[in-house]
Amino acid sequence: MNQRSTLLSLALLIGGITMTSCTSNKPADDQKSGLEKAAYGQLHDGRSADLYTLRNSAGMTAQITNYGGILVGLTAPDKDGQFEDVTLGFDSLTTYVKSNPYFGALIGRYGNRIAKGKFTLDGKPSTLVVNNTVNHLHGGTVGFDKVLWTATPVEGDEPALKLTYTSKDGEEGYPGNLSVTVVYTLQKDNALKIDYEATTDKPTVVNLTNHTYFNLTGGAKRTILDHVLTLNADRFLPVNETLIPTGQLKPVSGTAFDFTKATRIGDRIDDSTDVQIKYGMGYDHCWVLSDSSHNLKPIATVFEPTSGRVMTVQTTEPAVQFYTGNFLDGSVTGREGFPYKRRYALCLETEHYPNSPNQPAFPTTVLRPGQTYKTTTIYQFSVKK
Ligand code: GLA
Repeated sequence: MNQRSTLLSLALLIGGITMTSCTSNKPADDQKSGLEKAAYGQLHDGRSADLYTLRNSAGMTAQITNYGGILVGLTAPDKDGQFEDVTLGFDSLTTYVKSNPYFGALIGRYGNRIAKGKFTLDGKPSTLVVNNTVNHLHGGTVGFDKVLWTATPVEGDEPALKLTYTSKDGEEGYPGNLSVTVVYTLQKDNALKIDYEATTDKPTVVNLTNHTYFNLTGGAKRTILDHVLTLNADRFLPVNETLIPTGQLKPVSGTAFDFTKATRIGDRIDDSTDVQIKYGMGYDHCWVLSDSSHNLKPIATVFEPTSGRVMTVQTTEPAVQFYTGNFLDGSVTGREGFPYKRRYALCLETEHYPNSPNQPAFPTTVLRPGQTYKTTTIYQFSVKK
């Protein structure tokens, strides 16, 4: 244990202080798991947001605010047991409110794009807010990433936080009152589990996800180009120039999109011979999982060679949007004044296919009264030496 971690462990032991900082060192073995609540700040309308710190018995922490259901920080140990934050984020609520490119946020009602913000369900047309050139993206101008959720700690032997939100009939153009519950659980086995549920009182469409930007170097030291990715997906959805799927499911074999074997992300990210890479300015596409059943199954592994950190992703969803932070340009100042540049993070947004409401051949995203939308995604951390 180095000097800093000894001091930190002492501080933790004296008076049972619970640390809420985003970066920490190896914890004392007798660390207790739990959940702490602190005031996080005020929104423009005077309502207050809180920050919840979940800690597991291994010393990992997840910080979540009920503003946007945002995962504000997530620490994970490297191969030497050093805990560091593996996500991008901001130091204050004010920045999340002002300009957040969806860091850590819950996304709804519909993760990803709906073409021209229009769809017709049971013969009834809906017109959604258009907020991404000509399309609707991530639920609109005020998506679930920008609303204040009601937070309730969940009793149990692992720290968990329940967030609920009722989206009104017509919100951002969607039909039906939608009641949404999301539970974040920080498991003993260094996994962050996210359970989503929703019900409606009118036929509608739903596609919920989380938009955390990961960088396993810890503290976003470098780009994610040296991260090594495996994706259990043998097809992906080619897109048009506005990133709407063409409707085709294209085999990844022989393309820059083949991650069926562990591959360094930077190897083919700028493959200028592939128009899909050009449209996404890198990777910003939806991969169709080889096992597209509703079972919880491992779908992705990310390995960062310097730290030894490994993240595995499991989901009940049929697809995942792999995005490589192509739109980050250094203009966003993150934690501790650090500018987040292009490709400083990767997102693995588990989801249904983009634009499904307009593609009858895609797995359905329709939710009807009496049905319950239910999905689970788990991000688990380990190390490889
Ligand atoms: C998703 C989209 C991207 C981009 C990011 C947020 O991953 O597919 O095109 O909009 O969200 O910047």
